[in-house]
Amino acid sequence: MNFLRLSDVDLAGKRVFIRADFNVPLQADGTLADDTRIRAALPGILACLEAGAAVMITSHLGRPREGALTAADSLAPVAACLGDLLGRPVPLVRDWVDGGFTLRPGDVVLLENCRGNVGEKADDPALAARIARFVDVYVNDAFGTAHRKECTLHALAMAAPVACAGPLMCGELDALGRALAQPARPLAAIVAGSKVSTKLTILESLADKVDVLVLGGGIANTFLAARGYPVGRSLYEPDLTDAARAVQRRLAAHNGVVWLPEDVVAADRFAADARTRCVHVDEVAADEMILDIGPDSRRSLAELLERAGTIVWNGPVGVFELEPFAAGTAALAGAVAASPAFSIAGGGDTLSAIARFGVADRIDYISTGGGAFLEFLEGRELPAIAALKARARPGSRRVEPVPAFEHEPEMT
Ligand code: 3PG
Ligand code: MG
Repeated sequence: MNFLRLSDVDLAGKRVFIRADFNVPLQADGTLADDTRIRAALPGILACLEAGAAVMITSHLGRPREGALTAADSLAPVAACLGDLLGRPVPLVRDWVDGGFTLRPGDVVLLENCRGNVGEKADDPALAARIARFVDVYVNDAFGTAHRKECTLHALAMAAPVACAGPLMCGELDALGRALAQPARPLAAIVAGSKVSTKLTILESLADKVDVLVLGGGIANTFLAARGYPVGRSLYEPDLTDAARAVQRRLAAHNGVVWLPEDVVAADRFAADARTRCVHVDEVAADEMILDIGPDSRRSLAELLERAGTIVWNGPVGVFELEPFAAGTAALAGAVAASPAFSIAGGGDTLSAIARFGVADRIDYISTGGGAFLEFLEGRELPAIAALKARARPGSRRVEPVPAFEHEPEMT
């Protein structure tokens, strides 16, 4: 892909601004529930430090109101975690858009939640120009947020003197590109989750590309209903059965197939102590809900994935958080891990399932992206990546360099 990579940029003595995605889950007490995204950003940060750069890192966390950050929106827990991982304190800088903090080569600071800055969400070029005054090299290493067109992802990439992709971004694009551009066949995509409506565009676009579309969760229920099976009180979308049939036709047009469960775990309630039974999909009672796939389906899914050349996985096939409905997703995780196929996985629920079932080291590539992962699979151009590509063309810098200030922001 045509954009500048961090590894191609001379960083010695430069003020490097890294946009990371530290939008990490927090526990009720404010500590981190998972540090995967922070660990994933370390190679880029270390590369800059080792090259002798002065390093600033920012990220969004949650969706705070601009100009009104609260304590709950603070990146303080991230700064603490990053400090532990780097083995040195990482100061957290507030109110940073006009500089005014001291930074020397070899230093690393975390700039407070960028979504607190007025103009961030609107991708404001004036905000970008202010930030660009104290940046020599802009690095986007936030694949997980690459689908958002916001100031630190887009306008700043256009305004900074140099804009490049960090190693995490490059790794994601290389792995996902490999899985989609020239996949080893058969290509199987697992798209599971509660609603067809939120994933309809991805289902449609994958229908043209994949050999097998494996469906699970509420999405599968809608497809089962479209085939005339009774789904009882299961989560499904009756309005989308036509859309489901259209997806099946798109697949059939190139001899692709939809995989749906043949048997399911049906429950009388959505609860860990529900009354459950394994039934064929034509035997679900009117007062039951489908909460997992059954044993025959687990076997057929494992056989199918065993024969795949490439597997793309997003979403669990059952309510695996509840013990009686975990076996389907456990079997799926095991099957993806055991398959000789090149496997990639992404999305929050999928990452939880991978961790829960202990298969992380047997998945070939685990994306840090949720929404970005899906939009990339859809074949959409992600705004942050579009900006990096635009900057690879000569004369693409959107703002002229600001002449030296009378009072330079205090960055030495
Ligand atoms: C994510 O966690 O999905 C990304 O960090 C993007 O966050 P957002 O959906 O709030 O833009
Ligand atoms: Mg999101």
